[in-house]
Amino acid sequence: MNATIPGALRAAAPVFADAAAAFIAANGFDKPTLVISRDRVAAQYDTLQAGLGQAHIHYAVKANPAPEIIRTLVKKGSGFDAASRQEIELCLGQGAKASSISFGNTIKRASDIAFAHSAGVTLFAADSEAELDKIAKHAPGARVYVRLIVENALADWPLSRKFGCSASSLPALLDHAVAVGLQPYGLSFHVGSQTREAAFWNPVLDQIAPLWHAARAAGHDLQLLNIGGGFPAFYGQTIQAPRAYAAAVMGAIRARFGDVPQIMAEPGRGMVAEAGHIVAEVMLVSRKSEDDLHRWVYLDVGRFSGLAETEGEAIRYQFITRHDGGETGPCVLAGPSCDSADILYEKRPVQLPLALRDGDRIVIRNCGAYTSSYSSIGFNGFPPLDVVVL
Ligand SMILES: Cc1ncc(COP(=O)(O)O)c(C=O)c1O
Repeated sequence: MNATIPGALRAAAPVFADAAAAFIAANGFDKPTLVISRDRVAAQYDTLQAGLGQAHIHYAVKANPAPEIIRTLVKKGSGFDAASRQEIELCLGQGAKASSISFGNTIKRASDIAFAHSAGVTLFAADSEAELDKIAKHAPGARVYVRLIVENALADWPLSRKFGCSASSLPALLDHAVAVGLQPYGLSFHVGSQTREAAFWNPVLDQIAPLWHAARAAGHDLQLLNIGGGFPAFYGQTIQAPRAYAAAVMGAIRARFGDVPQIMAEPGRGMVAEAGHIVAEVMLVSRKSEDDLHRWVYLDVGRFSGLAETEGEAIRYQFITRHDGGETGPCVLAGPSCDSADILYEKRPVQLPLALRDGDRIVIRNCGAYTSSYSSIGFNGFPPLDVVVL
């Protein structure tokens, strides 16, 4: 971060107030920067935990792996959902106990399983026989939970298809786990990220609950229901307050599953998104022709430097500029790289002030999740998203 404040990059007072916004307003930046507040993350942990009740939080590290955030969550008593050896090492390095870490990726390197096992991690995800075999070989006797595919079109960022086994293959997988000396410990699923309403969970829970009951009836002493993430962030569309949302999800689970010995929730986005904002710069405002109805607005941050979730225009961020309140017009919004895929919003253009000019600062709200962790190291020479943790 650059401590000097170029005049053109000074933000007007933001129309929303929190620690990250205040820091952005008070400082200058010479590259796109995510500013994120630890206190806000800690408060969100308390809010979600209050709603989740008996369910234990395992923060999905992939959403934002800033070491300071991991450390804050260790202090709060969070567990961690890790996707790789590197995420496990990160958590251990920030003081997490191995027993609080689950290796939640269903696609794991054999050597990473062996590392996790030697580090004391005992809980692993799987969705195939081959993965169970790998775990049995490199983490003998481990507890495993089997991830199920969910059919769900209700999330803004669905996670279907790539992960999970079909309902029909679950019984054989649980039996196979036993056969190779593992402990079938539970089931997991993910409703899809940014599931805006708690009621959207119901069809998914309706799919999973009979499988849970059938597996237990078949003699598998399942202890753990891992309900994944999906807890939403505010991007402009109405969402339920996090505590009420989490409580409603838990009520829906109780109604379908009855008493579950152990429930684990893995919020990523819902934990960190609203704790951070990106400060960026407008590089160019132009039109493709004199009668073009749309302006093209190019930012110094784009698809490859943190805004990957604009893919399919799925996640629609909110923008704040010093001209807000003035007349607006439709804009195609794009990133800075020489890659034509680096367009953020085109199908549904963004309304931005007509007064917007190159050099203006633009603040992108509620960007604490899936931005810094998606940023490329220097595609086209543009710097990766800088991160300031308050
Ligand atoms: C296994 C697992 N758990 C939790 C999460 C976090 O999901 P969300 O950010 O929607 O809370 C993800 C996201 O990809 C995931 O793959």
